[in-house]
Amino acid sequence: MKNVSFLKIAKTSLLTIVIISGISWNKKPEIKDTNDKTIITINGFTFSDLNQNGKLDKYEDTRLPIKDRIQDLISKMTDDEKASMLTGIGMPGFDLTTFKFTTEGFQGKVPGAAGGTFEIKRLGIPTVTVSDGPAGLRINPKRNNDSNNYYATAFPVGTALASTWNTELINNVGQAMGNEVKEYGVDVLLGPGMNIHRNPLCGRNYEYYSEDPLLTGKISAAIVNGIQSNGVGTSIKHFAANNQERNRTGINAHISERALREIYLRGFEITVKEAQPWTIMSSYNSINGTFTSERKDLLTTVLRDEWGFKGLIMSDWFGGYISYAAPFTPNVVSNVTAQLSAGNDLLMPGLPSQKQAILDNMKSGKLTASVVNRDLTRILELVMRSPAMNNYKYSDKPNLKANAEVTRQAAAEGTILLKNDSNTLPFKSKKSPLAIFGVTSYDFISGGTGSGDVNEAYTISLIDGLTNNRFAIDSELEGLYKPYVADQKAKEMERRDKNGGLLATPKRILELELNKATIESKANSSEIALITIGRNAGEGADRNLDEDFILAVDEVALINNVSEAFHAKGKKVVVVLNIGGVIETASWRDKVDAILLPWQPGQEGGNSVADVFSGKVNPSGKLTMTFPIKYEDTPSAKNWNGTPMENPTSVTYNEGIYVGYRYYNTFGVKPAYEFGYGLSYTNFDVSNLKLSTKTFTKKMTATVTIKNTGKTAGKEVIQLYLSAPSKNTDKPSAELKAFTKTKLLQAGESQTIILTLNSKNLASFVTTKNAWIAEAGAYKIAIGTSSLNSKQTAGFSLSKELVVEKTNSSFAPDTNFSDLKN
Ligand code: BGC
Repeated sequence: MKNVSFLKIAKTSLLTIVIISGISWNKKPEIKDTNDKTIITINGFTFSDLNQNGKLDKYEDTRLPIKDRIQDLISKMTDDEKASMLTGIGMPGFDLTTFKFTTEGFQGKVPGAAGGTFEIKRLGIPTVTVSDGPAGLRINPKRNNDSNNYYATAFPVGTALASTWNTELINNVGQAMGNEVKEYGVDVLLGPGMNIHRNPLCGRNYEYYSEDPLLTGKISAAIVNGIQSNGVGTSIKHFAANNQERNRTGINAHISERALREIYLRGFEITVKEAQPWTIMSSYNSINGTFTSERKDLLTTVLRDEWGFKGLIMSDWFGGYISYAAPFTPNVVSNVTAQLSAGNDLLMPGLPSQKQAILDNMKSGKLTASVVNRDLTRILELVMRSPAMNNYKYSDKPNLKANAEVTRQAAAEGTILLKNDSNTLPFKSKKSPLAIFGVTSYDFISGGTGSGDVNEAYTISLIDGLTNNRFAIDSELEGLYKPYVADQKAKEMERRDKNGGLLATPKRILELELNKATIESKANSSEIALITIGRNAGEGADRNLDEDFILAVDEVALINNVSEAFHAKGKKVVVVLNIGGVIETASWRDKVDAILLPWQPGQEGGNSVADVFSGKVNPSGKLTMTFPIKYEDTPSAKNWNGTPMENPTSVTYNEGIYVGYRYYNTFGVKPAYEFGYGLSYTNFDVSNLKLSTKTFTKKMTATVTIKNTGKTAGKEVIQLYLSAPSKNTDKPSAELKAFTKTKLLQAGESQTIILTLNSKNLASFVTTKNAWIAEAGAYKIAIGTSSLNSKQTAGFSLSKELVVEKTNSSFAPDTNFSDLKN
C-alpha cells in the first residue's frame, strides 16, 4: 500500500481545513466540496465522517500498525455487520433449491465466482471475491447483456501438473493462473487441491497431486508461490483427509495421529511453511468424530501454533452440516460456535440462518467476543491485502495467449510414457494418414467435472493437435467418428444438465462399433494406429470399478480388434490415456506397443500430446501414484469409502501410513507401474553419488551426476528414497525424501545435482512420545529414477536418537483400531 502523504486541502470561508496524512488506500482520494460537507472518496468508498473534526479515524491512518487499524474497524462494526462478515455473501448465481447454477438474479462482482466476503461500504470494506479452482479460474464465460467473453485458461489438472515433478515449471503455471485471477477481478483462487490419493477410485483425485505427501507439498508450494506472486491469494484445500466423494459431508474418517501427521497433513505442512497461502479451506468430512471445521487441534494447535500458519481459514461450501444434494434445507445450521471457536474464521458461502445463529450465540455469550474479534481480525487482514481493497483496476483481459503456451508446455511435460516397445515413439513419418480410433480422440477431455472444471474457450482434441503438428488424419475414420461423437456428447451434456449440471456424475460415451473390415483396411493404408481411452469424474461421486477403473467391454474390443489388424500387418498401436485417475492396465498393455499418459491435460491437450508423439518434446513425466496390477492390491481396497455401503458414515484408515508405494514396496506387492516411473526417448546414466557426511548431525547433502547417454535431448527426475532404521518404530522400506528435475540435457551432456536432507526427513512421528523422532542407526539412501529403479546407493549413520520436533497430543481416536504394521 502506498501512502498519499500530506495532502492538504485548504478550504475557504465555509470550508474547514482537512489534512489527510498518510492515508494508506492506494488511490488518491477524490475530494468534493458540497457547501458545508466535504465528501472524500477513496477506492470508490465514501467517507463523509472524515472531516468531522479534521482528523482521520484510526483505521484509516496507515502510520499505525495494521493490527491497531483493524481493531479500530472492528470496534466500529455493529453486531449485525460482524455476523455478516463472519458468514460471507452467499453464493451468487447458484440456486439453492435446485442446486444448480443460474444466470438469474444477483451474480456478484465476477459472475461465476464461488462467493465473497461481506462488504461494509460505510467503513470502506469491499468484498473479497473468491473463485475456483485447481486447474484454472472458474468463472462464467458469458454475462447477461454483455457481448464480451470471459474465458479462462484450462490448465492441466492437478495430477497432470504434479506428473511434471518440475517445481520451477509449476511456479510458472501458478504465475499464469494468478494473472487470470487478478485480471478478472478475483482476489483468492480456491485451490490448489492437495488431498492424498488414498485410493484410485476417489472421484476428485484428478484435482489432487499424488499418493505421496512430499511431492504433494512441494508441487503445491510451487503453485501457491506462483499464484500469490501476482498479489492474489490461494486457498489450499481440503484440510484435511477429504479422500473420498461418497457422502463426503457426512463421513467420519478414523485415522491414527501418525497417519495423519505423516501422510494426510504433511503436504499441507510443507506448503504452509514454504509458501504461506493466504487462506486454507477446511474439508467437509469429520476426523475421529468431529467435523474438521470444528477441530481446534487441526485448525489452531497444529496449523497455527505448530506450523506457523498466518492466514485465514474458510469452511468448504456449506461445510459442517449439509448433505450435498438438492433440495437444500437452509434452516439446518452448522454448529457455528464450534466452527468459529475452533479457528474456522469464515463460514462459506454464508447463509442467513448461520448469521442468525451467530447473532443469537453472541447475545447469549456462547460465542465469545474474543473469538468473534479474533476471526474478524483474520478476515480483515485478508481484506486489507486484497486487490479489491487496493482498488486494483483489473482489465478483464488476462494474457490468454501467453497462458495457452504455458499450459501446452506444462501438459507436454506432465505426459508420462508408460510403454514404448521397439521405439514405437516418437513417430515422425508423414507418409500415410494416421488411423485414429476411440471416441475421446475426437473430443479430448481437458479436465474433470465439478468445481475443478474451467470454462475455457476451446479444447484442442487429439486430431486437432496432430493436424497442427502436420500429420494427416485418416478421413474415413474421422467421418465416422465425428458425427457420432457430436451426437452422443450433446445427449450426455443434456443428461448432465438435467442431473445437477456441474455436479452431475459424468458418463462415458460408448465406443463406436467399427466393423473388422474397416479396421483392416486402415491397417493397410496407415502406418500406425492411435486409440484414446477417455475417463471423466469429479466432485460429488467416486469412480466405479467396472467400466471405469477396469476397461469396458467395448473398449477392450476396440483395443483387441485394432491391435490384431495392425499387428497382422507388422504395424504399431499406440494408446493414449486421457484419464483423470488410475485405471487397470495389466490385462491389456501387452496388446499394444506404446502407451502415453497425458492425463486430462487442459485446453491445449491435443497439441501437447502431438508434441510428445512427434518427438518435439521428449517425455519426462513420472507417475505420482502407483498403478496396481489389480484394484484389490490397493492397500485401502478393503476399507475403501466405509460402511454402510450405500451411504457410508464411517471409514477406517486401517492401512495407516502404508499408502501407495509405501505399501507396495514394503509388502512386496508388484505394481503394474510403480510410483515415480516414466520412460524417455533417451537414456540416462546416474553416477558418482557422494554424501556430504557419513554421520548425520543436522543436515546433509547427496550429490550425484546424471548424464544423457542417448541421442535425444531430455530431462530426468532424480528421486531420493531413504530407508531408516526401524528398531523402535515400524517403517516403510523406503520413502521419497527429495527430488529434482534436471534441465534439458543435450545428448552427452551431464549435470550435477545436489539434494538436501534435514532432520525431519529422517524422522517418523511417534505417537506415544508426541514427537517426530529420528532413530539412531544405519540409514540408506537410494537415488533412482523411480521408486523401484534405484541407480546409486550410499549409507550414513545417526549415532544418537534425535527428537526433531515436539508436538501437542492431537486427534484422539474415537474408535479402537490399529494401523497396518510391517
Ligand atoms: C468444493 C470446493 C469448492 C467449493 C466452491 C465445494 O463444493 O468442495 O472444492 O472450492 O465448492 O465452489
